Amino acid sequence: MSARAVLDLADVVKDYASEAGSFRALHGVSLTVADGELMAIMGPSGSGKSTLMNIIGCLDTPTEGTYRFEGTDTATLNERALARLRNAGIGFVFQQFNLLPRLSALGNVALPLVYSGLGRSDREAKAQALLTQVGLADKPKSRPSQLSGGQQQRVAVARALANDPKLLLADEPTGALDTRTGAEVLGLFQALNRDRGVTVVIVTHDPEVARATDRVVRIQDGRVFYDGPPTEAALYGHGDALPSPSGEGPGVGRSADDATAPPPGRASRVSRPSPEGEGRP
Ligand SMILES: Nc1ncnc2c1ncn2[C@@H]1O[C@H](COP(=O)(O)OP(=O)(O)OP(=O)(O)O)[C@@H](O)[C@H]1O
Ligand SMILES: [Mg+2]
Repeated sequence: MSARAVLDLADVVKDYASEAGSFRALHGVSLTVADGELMAIMGPSGSGKSTLMNIIGCLDTPTEGTYRFEGTDTATLNERALARLRNAGIGFVFQQFNLLPRLSALGNVALPLVYSGLGRSDREAKAQALLTQVGLADKPKSRPSQLSGGQQQRVAVARALANDPKLLLADEPTGALDTRTGAEVLGLFQALNRDRGVTVVIVTHDPEVARATDRVVRIQDGRVFYDGPPTEAALYGHGDALPSPSGEGPGVGRSADDATAPPPGRASRVSRPSPEGEGRP
């Protein structure tokens, strides 16, 4: 697997302004995800997972620190360039599907293609092919309300794939699904990663979802305190194998300084961008 970084966050801080003052949701997160990875982000409610996903998805910007997408510092991109990156480079899947209720399954999947330059019939043909890929070849005309939860989430996955994104971001994609349906949607992510090389980042509370990935990043109080393979301790967030959030334990307290070194005793999949990846436009 190429170690080229799709995304690279360095010391990312996120502050939210509120009436009570400023709230720091991320306290200097450093994270590199290589091309073709399948990884899970876990952590308690309120730990900063969605905040991190919003930054990775260029829906929000860091207060401090840098975020590079395929080598480009996103702080150097204007709104238009960011919108292009979001539309063409990144696919999003959310817990609540976020489908447009008045559009058919086909219409929902074809929607992101409006800016692709394809004509209507080509857009519909592509949308139909995507529906087939997610196992919904026979449902193009169904409205979201006529589909099961799992089917709606598959439509959402097909929509996220419409522009052939490099990176698929999913924030609790199985959170609203029963176990079996959730497993089906997870299987879809695994297949996309394996067969099409899509880089997949999944936020999940479910250890069984995270177990199916190659790498687990655990966040607590806005800090990364585990980054490594999906061991039992990592999946369930307990046990002596996990370091304290301050980073003093046996595992990972990743700072900019130790980011290149794998944690002791672990085959870390973390990789820094290669020099040629670093400077690419
Ligand atoms: N727009 C906002 N303004 C102020 N504070 C916010 C905002 N969004 C999130 N927060 C705070 O930032 C912290 C992290 O929130 P975030 O949504 O990232 O958590 P999470 O890990 O995704 O939680 P969950 O598992 O419940 O989805 C929380 O304490 C939350 O209250
Ligand atoms: Mg969240």
